[in-house]
Amino acid sequence: MNTLATFTALLLVGLASTKPTTNNDTLHIIEDLFPEVFVIYTGEKDITKIVVPLNSINFDDTEDVEVISNDENIYIFFIEEGKGLFVMKNKQVTKLLENGNDISASSDQSKEVYFAASDGIYRFNEQEKKAEKYGTVTDNTIAIAAVSINGTNDYYILTAENVVYKVTDDGTRKEEITNVKDAQQIVLDSAENLYFVDNKKDVYVRLAEDGTVKSIKGLPAHPSDVQLLRPPFVVEEAVPVIAGKNTYLAYANGTSEFADIILDTKPSAISLDTTLILFAGHNNKIYEYNLLAIVLTEITKEDLSVDLTEVKSFFSDQISYIQSIATRSKSSFRA
Ligand SMILES: *[C@@H]1O[C@H](CO)[C@@H](O)[C@H](O)[C@H]1NC(C)=O
Ligand SMILES: *[C@@H]1O[C@H](CO)[C@@H](O)[C@H](O)[C@H]1NC(C)=O
Ligand SMILES: *[C@@H]1O[C@H](CO)[C@@H](O)[C@H](O)[C@H]1NC(C)=O
Repeated sequence: MNTLATFTALLLVGLASTKPTTNNDTLHIIEDLFPEVFVIYTGEKDITKIVVPLNSINFDDTEDVEVISNDENIYIFFIEEGKGLFVMKNKQVTKLLENGNDISASSDQSKEVYFAASDGIYRFNEQEKKAEKYGTVTDNTIAIAAVSINGTNDYYILTAENVVYKVTDDGTRKEEITNVKDAQQIVLDSAENLYFVDNKKDVYVRLAEDGTVKSIKGLPAHPSDVQLLRPPFVVEEAVPVIAGKNTYLAYANGTSEFADIILDTKPSAISLDTTLILFAGHNNKIYEYNLLAIVLTEITKEDLSVDLTEVKSFFSDQISYIQSIATRSKSSFRA
């Protein structure tokens, strides 16, 4: 299998496509998929988290999603292991926190970006380009997931004691979610269903509607490791799951589906937030994959030293779908 197809396929074949695809090739992510030409940041340690907020800090809701295919002026937040939590904009990198563990932003009209840290929650101050302590939570917090509905500043946190709380009232009120037990990771879908992995590496969903918890069926038993990803915004009531080398979509109804992607080379971080631009951490670097450019292609074989002919033919039946994503506004996806 060719190179770039695998990454773009993460979006189209596996994760973002809301319709069944006719192309059922299994795709392998391999080292060749990480050409130097896509590098936007080079660090010294593993990149463990990349978050591109899909709210008004980056994208005006009245704009077409097309603007998302242009990465100029967008804020990219990331964590470099042992180095800290950083923000990059216009190629300029600023360190925000020494002790940051996670990053989350709601996908609404707000401009809020939150950080989970070893001493509680911080919020991004855009004017001063710094992280400020937010609310009254002081727990050692290893994960945070901001709620994107109803225009609140609510979010879920996961503490180092593996307890999940919902935090409301501008960070001042904390309520334990008692039926989420031994959580190691948490991720929200667009409907505020909370997916989590427990200490046996099993995946569950806690439904927004009535708070019931159910296990996700169809995932491999006893995988070497399990990772939940934040979903691209075109995906509703589902989140991507990586179990071992295999990728799945886990649905809020408790089912799951193999996403036809095998990660022979596993990125240290993946961001699908914007759907049309993928970001991946690998080899202590951040790589950016502009889907529209790859498929509609201004990129040539000479630029990449890889042949895109196969990639383009692989996606030839998907081009109109990609273009339809690019020209629909964000709000039309939320309707
Ligand atoms: C999908 O896979 C099945 C079974 O491997 C094969 O028979 C079929 O031709 C494939 N379809 C396409 C469109 O590749
Ligand atoms: C959002 O607001 C609507 C209308 O007030 C309410 O019915 C719904 O329960 C709220 N959803 C959540 C998750 O709070
Ligand atoms: C669960 O949801 C997915 C996505 O909406 C759907 O394809 C699937 O048929 C559903 N399964 C059941 C058992 O309802």
